[in-house]
Amino acid sequence: RNKINIGIMGMGTVGTGVVKVLLENKETISRKVDAHIEIRKILDQNTTVVLDKIQAFDLPADVLTDQAKDLLDDPEIDIIVEVLGGIQPAKDYMIRALENGKSVVTANKDLIAAHGKELFDVAALHDVDLFFEASVAGGIPIIQSLKESLAGNHIKQIMGIVNGTTNFILTKMSEEGKTFDEVLAQAQALGYAEADPTADVGGFDAARKVAILASIAFNTRITDAAVFVEGITKISHLDITYAKELGYTIKLLGITKEIDGEVEVRVHPAMIPISHPLSSVKDAFNAVFVEGDAVGKTMFYGRGAGELPTASAVVGDIISASRNIQFSSRGRLGCTCFEHKRIRSIGE
Ligand code: HSE
Repeated sequence: RNKINIGIMGMGTVGTGVVKVLLENKETISRKVDAHIEIRKILDQNTTVVLDKIQAFDLPADVLTDQAKDLLDDPEIDIIVEVLGGIQPAKDYMIRALENGKSVVTANKDLIAAHGKELFDVAALHDVDLFFEASVAGGIPIIQSLKESLAGNHIKQIMGIVNGTTNFILTKMSEEGKTFDEVLAQAQALGYAEADPTADVGGFDAARKVAILASIAFNTRITDAAVFVEGITKISHLDITYAKELGYTIKLLGITKEIDGEVEVRVHPAMIPISHPLSSVKDAFNAVFVEGDAVGKTMFYGRGAGELPTASAVVGDIISASRNIQFSSRGRLGCTCFEHKRIRSIGE
């Protein structure tokens, strides 16, 4: 093959970043895949804003469509990039794409956290890839690392700052004395926050991400509904100041560990000693601290939100899916031999 065709669903922050990276790094990506990756269709509303974006990229205006079937039912499209977000219609689109023999790359943490098992089963049945690196911690390569590089370990625990918006809010409240609402508005303007920022400040976005990490780390299927969640809305300036005086930083942490065969998954504000590397993770940065029995302690750090960092992970997955098509191999999906593990209950 000298060409892999992709269809992109959604031309918002992440979709725009994906187009940017694919076009700017076209040569190097082509060499790595040994084929040109062509953007054949983009699904979005036919608005002036979207058309302007498409023309600014020098893409022909007819790549844009507002009909999902133009991507999902086009036999020439090899890979669907789903960056619409939310559960529906993304879920139906994804299933139809997989059933039509297309690999899917997604950044959709809501969908993977809630319906991952069903989607992986459909992908396995149709022998196509379903990759989701961008769903957790944006540009940080944590999914691939847990699925592959660290797969030989018995994972003891994962602790992560996996929501950029709340980390940005806590940092600015602590260092610049700004109010919660002031900083939230800033995080929204910078494109870090979810469309409904309750998901960020309430801890639900982090819960989705930690459910995905726990599922991979402990080879089981954990949905976001199983995660104990407490957000940062009750954290005051006073809490932050007292914590500082005692030598701690307050962070919203996602924590998961396996205890006696049961998996514990929780998200809540935590006091981190300033000597711990997670305490120096500031602004919208994310970090995931993983402890395995063989590797020991490792920490992954980087930008967890925003246009280009998230696109970096999406494009990495597009390249992997393209290589699998090029060389007729599958496998990064792993097997569907998940174990059933009980969730450890956490007292209120
Ligand atoms: N709202 C999310 C965050 C975006 O702030 O981390 C990336 O998933």
